[in-house]
Amino acid sequence: MAETGTIAIAIDGPNGAGKSTIARCVAQTLGYAYVDTGAFYRAIGMFAVESGADPDNADEVAACLPRIDISVSYEGSRQRTIINGRDVTDDIRSQQAAEAASKVARVPSLRGKVVELARSIAKGENVVMDGRDIGTVVLPDAALKIYLDASLEIRAFRRVWELEQAGRPAEYATVLYEISRRDHRDKTREASPLRIAEGAVVIDSSRMNAEQVCARIVEELAAVTGRG
Ligand code: DC
Repeated sequence: MAETGTIAIAIDGPNGAGKSTIARCVAQTLGYAYVDTGAFYRAIGMFAVESGADPDNADEVAACLPRIDISVSYEGSRQRTIINGRDVTDDIRSQQAAEAASKVARVPSLRGKVVELARSIAKGENVVMDGRDIGTVVLPDAALKIYLDASLEIRAFRRVWELEQAGRPAEYATVLYEISRRDHRDKTREASPLRIAEGAVVIDSSRMNAEQVCARIVEELAAVTGRG
């Protein structure tokens, strides 16, 4: 349990492992807030690109930061992400925003801003927070840390299916390539690379459905806190 008396569950893992679906399910089951930190990187990445900055250029990205005011609001467990007064919750789900996010997420000053925002949310309420550095950096004292993984092929397959459901069909080979490139960026960057946090429970969801993974996490929480 965090010092403030609130409970946090940290879920990290690579692109497409199902973190957001699972985190939302766990949050709904427990009545916690679901905090999607990837949305912050996506929103800032999109803002940087729209402002004419090159997301590969750390100086240009860092120069945008003073002009960025990012905040969130919650409708039940659904997070809305607001940047400079504009609600970008839906716009940031694009592949372009995902690509920009994984590039700008390499900039340490930007990460500092997001970490501060994420911690301030977790201070006030029980949260299920997902991302890449939640158990390692943002909330190292989380009651429960999960590293959610799945094979690259299964993650690509699931993403293609999701895109198809959303009316945006995509080639399996292209999606597989893009996911593997973002994985590489997230795992090899200098600032807070994706890795398994100390004490994290590793769950490979390749052969599990969302309900099974969600139930497993609720059980794990019950085991560590006596609640759940
Ligand atoms: O979870 P997501 O796909 O929305 O994240 C988009 C990108 O943001 C991801 O490629 C890496 C970055 N990210 C990060 O570096 N740290 C986090 N805590 C969350 C996301």
